[in-house]
Amino acid sequence: MPRVVALDFALICLHRQIMTISSEAELELLRRIGRICARARDVMGAALVPGMTTAELDDIGRKILEDAGAVSAPQSQYNFPGATCISVNNAIAHGVPGDQILREGDLVNIDVSAELDGYFSDTGASFTVGPARPDIETLCRDGKKAMWQGIRAVRDRAPLRGIGRNIELFARKGGYSLIRNLASHGVGKSLHEEPHTIPTWDEPREQRLLRKGQVITIEPFLSRGSQWALEGEDGWTLYADTGAPTVQYEHTLVVTAKGVEILTLPG
Ligand code: CO
Ligand code: CO
Repeated sequence: MPRVVALDFALICLHRQIMTISSEAELELLRRIGRICARARDVMGAALVPGMTTAELDDIGRKILEDAGAVSAPQSQYNFPGATCISVNNAIAHGVPGDQILREGDLVNIDVSAELDGYFSDTGASFTVGPARPDIETLCRDGKKAMWQGIRAVRDRAPLRGIGRNIELFARKGGYSLIRNLASHGVGKSLHEEPHTIPTWDEPREQRLLRKGQVITIEPFLSRGSQWALEGEDGWTLYADTGAPTVQYEHTLVVTAKGVEILTLPG
């Protein structure tokens, strides 16, 4: 679940509480909820078939979370009307599961975030329903690469700006745009916490440093031309401004001395 950036985007000061992991026990709890969210994401992605509704897809994720004793974070934190966010085609985030029927070639973003024993994790991925147009398949491949370019910039004391800079360099080379009002964020003891806004585009005003033990998401929105997410009439769903195909890939990770430990890898 991305963080919606206020229009008067101002970077948050450095002095607020940032969650850092202080024990192996905490890390183990974060790993546990990370694995659960990753499993829900991947089982849902593998279940995509033409003719199913987004509510049926959501039920699959809901059951995985429930069976693991986990609680959907969008539901518990924001009263979101679904266990997971499912966004189809020109919807790019916070899509509400319902009676929409999936068709072959649709581009579907599945975003799963949940809590277990007080610890939260957040992950997302875009999938196609069966085979899709070649440009959509390429966009999915490059969306994953964009996320990994951002992750490569992470280690203790590295500039936070490096995440967005790496992603933007990659996007520009491929002729892509990035959505500039959906950001990555801190996560751990709540779904969205300090650092509240981690730009996944190059933001010159971003001067913070990453610190060992921080738990963050990295979730760029790579697009074939859209730059802004606009809120739909249901008050939840976010749409790409130009309607251009847009994908998101998201991992939760812990900053380590030399890099990262990713908590939402496939099981
Ligand atoms: Co998410
Ligand atoms: Co998120």
